[in-house]
Amino acid sequence: MATRYDRMGMNYSDLRRPDPRIAAPIEAALGRSKTVLNVGAGTGSYEPAGREVTALEPSAEMIRQRAVPAAAVVQGRAEDLPFADRSFDGSMAILTIHHWSDQAKGVSEMRRVTRGPIVLLTYDPAFRGFWLADYVPELVTLDEAQMPAMADYERWLGPVAISPVLVPHDCTDGFLSAYWRRPAAYLDPRVRAAMSSFWALGDVSPALARLEADLESGAWEARYSGLLARDSCDCGYRLVVTR
Ligand SMILES: C[S@@+](CC[C@H](N)C(=O)[O-])C[C@H]1O[C@@H](n2cnc3c(N)ncnc32)[C@H](O)[C@@H]1O
Repeated sequence: MATRYDRMGMNYSDLRRPDPRIAAPIEAALGRSKTVLNVGAGTGSYEPAGREVTALEPSAEMIRQRAVPAAAVVQGRAEDLPFADRSFDGSMAILTIHHWSDQAKGVSEMRRVTRGPIVLLTYDPAFRGFWLADYVPELVTLDEAQMPAMADYERWLGPVAISPVLVPHDCTDGFLSAYWRRPAAYLDPRVRAAMSSFWALGDVSPALARLEADLESGAWEARYSGLLARDSCDCGYRLVVTR
């Protein structure tokens, strides 16, 4: 089962370490679930300790990098979950739905195999205001194309609670907005290689050259100085939890 993450997953476990401040609301939303399915589990980030976790992941490379031997791992896709109806107390899908080829089918599969809460961490494509899009405006178009609208979740799952997940300034999980207060990080190809958006966009070197010049001249700091005093930021990430 070859996937894009077989190529881009290299170094994932180094650069995409779960952040405990993001893990906390995910864990709380799983409530009393004792058995948990983690769909699009990657290397196992955010899998809660003390529960019986089954990880579902298509990429062999991501499975290879798992540090947590505790969970059972099944190679497969969200759109066709190899589990019986109502097999799990709860299920989770963290920063993965934008990669699914049929998002409605994947979510309905999660509903089919889950008795209790379904918890998704995703990005609201209607969110505006992340400064990196001032340099790379293609990010907005990409997210509009790949991320479900917030209204889709209620259509697919019935009533859901949707809440912002703030990104700490020193976030350990290097997803796209993680470095909102560490702008020079985006100039590092290794950092960008752990972000699927940069793989999808291809060559953005002119934009990065503008960022580098603005960092050197002090223009970035002058324009975004309000960010530097903040400890966390709403960058558009949302926790979607079935009621
Ligand atoms: C950004 S990673 C997130 C991994 C992990 N949940 C985390 O928070 O670190 C996205 C994951 O979704 C997986 N993925 C891609 N297509 C998928 C599909 N159709 N069904 C399930 N997972 C998929 C990728 O292989 C990758 O491991």
